[in-house]
Amino acid sequence: MSLDPEPLQPGATIGLLGGGQLAQMLVLAGHAMGFRFMVLEPNPDCPAALAGAEQITASYTDPEALAKLADSCQLVTYEFENVDAEAVSWLEERVDVPQGSEILRIAQNRLREKKTLVRLNIPVAPFQKITTENELSLALKSLGELMLKTVTGGYDGKGQVRISKVEQIPEAFSTLYSTKTEIVAEQFVSFEREVSVIVARNRLGEISCFPVAENVHEKNILTISRIPARLDSRVREQAQLLAKQIAEGLELVGVLAVEMFVLPDGNLVVNELAPRPHNSGHFTLNDCATSQFEQHLKAITNFPLGSTEMYKPAIMLNILGEHLPLLLKRLKDLPPEAKLHLYGKQECRPGRKMGHLNLTADSPESLLENLVKLGIWDEALLYKML
Ligand SMILES: Nc1ncnc2c1ncn2[C@@H]1O[C@H](COP(=O)(O)OP(=O)(O)O)[C@@H](O)[C@H]1O
Ligand SMILES: [Mg+2]
Repeated sequence: MSLDPEPLQPGATIGLLGGGQLAQMLVLAGHAMGFRFMVLEPNPDCPAALAGAEQITASYTDPEALAKLADSCQLVTYEFENVDAEAVSWLEERVDVPQGSEILRIAQNRLREKKTLVRLNIPVAPFQKITTENELSLALKSLGELMLKTVTGGYDGKGQVRISKVEQIPEAFSTLYSTKTEIVAEQFVSFEREVSVIVARNRLGEISCFPVAENVHEKNILTISRIPARLDSRVREQAQLLAKQIAEGLELVGVLAVEMFVLPDGNLVVNELAPRPHNSGHFTLNDCATSQFEQHLKAITNFPLGSTEMYKPAIMLNILGEHLPLLLKRLKDLPPEAKLHLYGKQECRPGRKMGHLNLTADSPESLLENLVKLGIWDEALLYKML
């Protein structure tokens, strides 16, 4: 790679591994920049195809499909961590994959992720690798209450069990162990808030962070983000600094979400990395000079990064399967400033991300009454955030 890479010319085709809502929003941003898209996704009529990407309907490891993607695209990007890293390595030999397979290998393996963060001097919760029930009982003794996680394959809280007592060990161990992936035991963190920072870096080493988001999860699925997070400026700056250190340490190209816990004393612990656009960055679509999707595309196509200036405080509410039917009945009651984003997914089931709603206001508190009145989101959750 030359030191000063040329921007990818508009008209070029960008390949996407994964065709969900993140890919859809990349396509929408990329069309405005003059790019074309080809998506590899096993589910027909995926959200990215609905937005106009040509779809190859095949598994992420199908050799013919990967070859077609490599031959038809000037570069390839991925929208989620659980694509096969081997397939990405194979692609890397044939076509430009700016994010690379290495960061994917790190983010898709919780043990490797934590070890990498430790190597970069980034604070993480104390953790241990678990292979037997005995190791688990020793971990419970030394670390106290635990969050057990499968090392690979987990998302939206799947593959996680919280335990605090010895009696819970056999069931927790057999539940997670039966998934045949390794297990990591993390100390349970009594955090005050959860926050995330989306950081972008391009090949010239230019780095830029979006404002820190504060996130509330329900059943481990993101429900609400509030931006900016309610943090002292010192903690906010520290969160962005950690994200930048990680971006530099991993030689990131593209955007990366860094999920963090804020401890009661204001210290930060990094929980997870996602080397792609992230749900907690959806506010950028309507509230920042550059959206996270445009920024990702700028970073991987060698454009200078865009401004991350935010216009107003923002609230992002996820529309999950359980919210959608009521939302569709209440469309006329949505506040006029609400920006509705729906992904066009056919099958609506609880916990599935169907869309999101972006709201901005000079003070987020002023939105509360209207949101509570809608009756779509749990009132207690809304009050937690406002
Ligand atoms: N060590 C921990 N202590 C306390 N809560 C945790 C811990 N690890 C995860 N959680 C909670 O579970 C959520 C999901 O965990 P995470 O590791 O981000 O997995 P994923 O998002 O891949 O499902 C976190 O956002 C947080 O609310
Ligand atoms: Mg997470």
